[in-house]
Amino acid sequence: MKLVVTIDGPAGAGKSSVAKALARRLGYRLLDTGAIYRSVALTAKQRGIDWKDGAACGAIAAALDIKFDFVGDNNCVYLGGEDSSSAIRTPEISQGASIVSAHPEVRHGLLELQRRLGAGGGVVVEGRDTGTVVFPQAGAKFFLTATDAERARRRVAELQATGTPVDPARVLAEIRERDHRDASRDIAPMVPANDAVLVDSSAQTLEEVVDSLAKLVEIRAAGS
Ligand code: DC
Repeated sequence: MKLVVTIDGPAGAGKSSVAKALARRLGYRLLDTGAIYRSVALTAKQRGIDWKDGAACGAIAAALDIKFDFVGDNNCVYLGGEDSSSAIRTPEISQGASIVSAHPEVRHGLLELQRRLGAGGGVVVEGRDTGTVVFPQAGAKFFLTATDAERARRRVAELQATGTPVDPARVLAEIRERDHRDASRDIAPMVPANDAVLVDSSAQTLEEVVDSLAKLVEIRAAGS
C-alpha cells in the first residue's frame, strides 16, 4: 500500500532535502507545496500585483498553470510553460510567498490543486499545513524542525553554493520573520498535526533523518 506522507515545518529545517531523499528511497513522487505558493508570488510580481492584495493573488492561485518535472536530481517548476525553477527561489520571492500564503483566497485557490497533485498516494508532500489541512488523512505525518541558528546556517550555505551574495545576520532575521508570519496567520498556520511525529534535525545528518522516516513509513504502509 502506497501512502501519502506529509512533511511540514519551518523554513530551513531540511524539508526539501529530506522529502526528496525520502521519495527516492520509497519510490514515491514528490510534491513541493512551497513551490506552488512561491509561483503565486512570482506571477503576482510579474503582473505588478501587490502581494497584500488577497483577491488578486487568489485569482492567480485559482488559475495557476504549474507543472513539475524531475530533470535528473532537480525538481523543475514550469509556469505557463516557462522554466521558473530558479526565479521562485530568490530571498525576495521567499518573503512574497509567505505574504501571499496568508490570504484565505490563495489557500482556498490552491487546495484542490494540491489534492489533485497528491491523489492516489505514493507521494511525499512537503509544506506547512499538508498534514493538518491538505491531507488530514495522510498515512504518515512528520513535523521537521531545527533551531533557527542552524536553519539560518544551512540557508546561508545553500545561497552561497548558488553564488548569491549573503548577509548571515539578515538571513537569520528573515527566517525569524517568515516563521513568525507562517505560524501566526489566522488560516492554516504552521503547526504540527496532532498525529505528526516531531523530528528535530539540528544534530542529525540527512541520512539519519531519512532512515528514521523511511522506517516509520514502511511500518505504517505494511500495517495499512
Ligand atoms: O517551503 P518554502 O520555503 O518553499 O515555502 C514558501 C512559503 O510558502 C512559506 O514561507 C509559507 C508558504 N507555504 C504555506 O503557507 N503552506 C505550505 N503548505 C507551503 C508553503
